[in-house]
Amino acid sequence: MRTSYIFTAFFFLLALQTYSQGNNYSQNYTKFEGLALTPPMGWNSWNKFACNVDERMIRQQADAMVSSGMKAAGYTYLNIDDCWHGDRDSLGFIHPDPKRFPSGMKALADYVHSKGLKLGIYSDAGSQTCGGRPGSRGFEAQDAKMYAAWGIDYLKYDWCNTEGLKAEGAYKTITAALRSAGRPVVLSICEWGTDAPWTWGQTVGHLWRTTGDIYDCFDCIKDHGTWKSWGVLQILEKQEGLRQYAGPGHWNDPDMLEVGNGGLSLNESRAHFTMWAMLAAPLIAGNDLRTMSKEIRDVLTNREVIALNQDSLGIQGLRYRVVDSVETWVKPLRNGDWAFCFLNRSLAPKRLDFNWSAEVIVDTVARRTFSTASGNYYFRDLWTGKELGHTGKPLSATVPAHDVLVVRLRKTL
Ligand code: GLA
Repeated sequence: MRTSYIFTAFFFLLALQTYSQGNNYSQNYTKFEGLALTPPMGWNSWNKFACNVDERMIRQQADAMVSSGMKAAGYTYLNIDDCWHGDRDSLGFIHPDPKRFPSGMKALADYVHSKGLKLGIYSDAGSQTCGGRPGSRGFEAQDAKMYAAWGIDYLKYDWCNTEGLKAEGAYKTITAALRSAGRPVVLSICEWGTDAPWTWGQTVGHLWRTTGDIYDCFDCIKDHGTWKSWGVLQILEKQEGLRQYAGPGHWNDPDMLEVGNGGLSLNESRAHFTMWAMLAAPLIAGNDLRTMSKEIRDVLTNREVIALNQDSLGIQGLRYRVVDSVETWVKPLRNGDWAFCFLNRSLAPKRLDFNWSAEVIVDTVARRTFSTASGNYYFRDLWTGKELGHTGKPLSATVPAHDVLVVRLRKTL
C-alpha cells in the first residue's frame, strides 16, 4: 500500500515537471551573460537615415567601418534601426522588405560577419514599431527564432504602440524568447526611461535608454507636438542620479551619437563624444561613415577617449562640481587612474584654475577617493595628446565655448 503511494507521488511529480518544462515555468527571463562587459560600440542607421535603409547602404557602412579605422578603434555592431521590415507570412514569421533587402537578412548578416563585425536589428514590444512597421507583440518567440536563423547579434527593442503592456514584463518576454532561440544577443531596452528600466533592467537587458530621443543640436529642445527630442546638454542633465545602476553588462544609454550629422560644431562634437565616454555610455555612431570628414573620423576614433569609455572597471562618471557653467566630471579608471573632464556649457570661453591638492573626491559608487595626499599624478590632454605636467601644480587653462578639456591622471610618467 505504502509503495503504491510512493509510486503515485513519484509519477505525479514527474508529470508536473514534464508539464512545466513545456510551459512558461521553464522560461529563462534573464539576459545572456558575458556580453557587453564594456559599453557596446557600433553604428546605427536611425540618426542619419531614419526609414531610408536598404542592404546596399548597410553593406557600404560595413565597408566604411573597416576602411575608416572605426573597426580597429573598437566599433563592432552594425545596427539596422526601424523600417527594414516587410510583412509577416501566413505562419506569422517576419521577413525583410523584399525591395530594400532583396538578398535577405541572412546574406546581409553573413556579409557583415565576414568583415569581422556583428549585425544588429530593431523591433518593438508593441503591435507596430514607431515607424509603423510590424511590431513583435504576440510574435516574440517567432521573431527571436528568425533573428537567430539570420545570425543577428544585437536587438534594439522599442516601446511604441504598447497600450496595456507593462515594460518589465514585455522586455522579459523578449528576453525569454531570445534565450530559447539560443543565439546570444545583446538586448538594448529602448523604453525611453519611462518606467525606470535601470531599476529592473539589469537582469533583462544589456543597456537601457534613459531618455527620449536625442536631437542633433548641442543645447536645444525640439518640440514635435506630441513629443520632444533633446539636445546633448538636455540629455546630459537627465542622467543625474543614475550612475549607480551602470556596470559591466548593464549600461545606462543616453541615446546614440550625433557626431558628424551636421548639427554640432567640431568643438561640440568633441564635447558630446567625450561626455558619452565619461558616462560609460554605449558609443553607437549615427552618421554616414562613407562620407565623414577626417575631423569627424578623428573625433570618433580618439583611442584615449574611447579607453575612458571602455575601461574595464565600468564605472559611470560622476558630476562633481558645477561653477559658472563649467562642470567638473570625474571617472575612476583601472589601475588607480582617473579621468577628469571640464565641460564648458556656455557660449563664452571659460578660464579654468583647478587646484588638485585642494580636492578630496569621495566616490561612493566606486568606493574610491581621489586625493593627491599620497602622491601626485601625471596627466595629459586627451584631445591634443600633450603632457600637461603633474597635479602638484594647479591646472590653468581656457576651455573654449561648448567644449571640453579632458585629462587622464596616472601615477607614473
Ligand atoms: C524611437 C526610438 C528611436 C528610433 C525610432 C525609430 O523614437 O527611440 O531611437 O529607434 O523610434 O522609429
